[in-house]
Amino acid sequence: PTTTRVFSAFQATGRLTLGNYLGAILPAVRLQDEADCVYAVADLHALTVKHDPAALRTRTREVAALLLACGLDRSLLYLQSRVPAHTELSYLLESTAYEGEMRRMIQFKEKAAAQKEVRLSLLTYPALMAADILLHRADLVPVGDDQRQHLELTRDLALRFNHLYGETFVVPRAVHPRFAARVMDLAVPTAKMSKSSASDAGTIHLLDPPADVRRKIMRAVTDSGTEVRHDPAAKPGISNLLDLLAACSGRPAEPSSYGSYGALKKDVAEAVAETLAPIRERFGLLCADPAELDRLLETAATEAIERTSGLLAAARQAIGL
Ligand code: ADP
Ligand code: NA
Repeated sequence: PTTTRVFSAFQATGRLTLGNYLGAILPAVRLQDEADCVYAVADLHALTVKHDPAALRTRTREVAALLLACGLDRSLLYLQSRVPAHTELSYLLESTAYEGEMRRMIQFKEKAAAQKEVRLSLLTYPALMAADILLHRADLVPVGDDQRQHLELTRDLALRFNHLYGETFVVPRAVHPRFAARVMDLAVPTAKMSKSSASDAGTIHLLDPPADVRRKIMRAVTDSGTEVRHDPAAKPGISNLLDLLAACSGRPAEPSSYGSYGALKKDVAEAVAETLAPIRERFGLLCADPAELDRLLETAATEAIERTSGLLAAARQAIGL
């Protein structure tokens, strides 16, 4: 019996939010029970835009520790840059892709338009992403809408390579993560909560102290009515709080049981604080022993190198190296 292989990468920069947790990390944690999961912290991808070396190194470790603390500890979780096969396969895929199809990527066009100087790696980024996925012979890749086009390109490159040089890659499929909740900004409930949001008031970060979490939720923007009802169009703030309560408590919320917005907010604050407490605690333990975290990441990188060396050798051989 073959198990399904899942690959997913997490950005190395930015402070992870409750939105990232409920929309991406928790679904990844649950997938560990049903598939062979490989997760990477994509520090190489962080080099595609202006960056600060020391901050990148710190954030990368922090993200890895946070993902472990969130429960991604029953899969292969490693730092992308520690496995040279990613960059080597990326070059083989750059040599399989066409310049035109890279330039057509919507994300490249949008990000390039917003910058004066565009790094070449921003253009070739989808080849590296394809390498991440193909290296692990992943069957399924959980992707948000913004990565769908890149996954399509990954499939095109895998098919083209297989056609030109012989069957080498598994052609992966995109899956929309199951159980993924969409969390809205607490201050602007019509926008999604994001680590790149300008306002801190609407964003809960996974490492926010419990008092900050409670304050942000108690001050969440709601409408002027009083009835607690799930109605995203008319009551986006209240609906978001009900969704948060359900996602954090693991059972459907009961809007009619709340006589006031304040009572609902209290329960939401409690549920979110309870969700984040064990994560903070495990993160603290991991950070208290940096040598142990280094050892964990080193062992994981070694395993990733071992697991991918066969595929890399096959790709080199197929393309004529
Ligand atoms: P951010 O906007 O915080 O930078 P990204 O766009 O980098 O997040 O997305 C990283 C992952 O987290 C994706 O899988 C995305 O679907 C998920 N995600 C991000 N924000 C939210 C949110 N507010 N609610 C649910 N999932 C989210
Ligand atoms: Na983002």
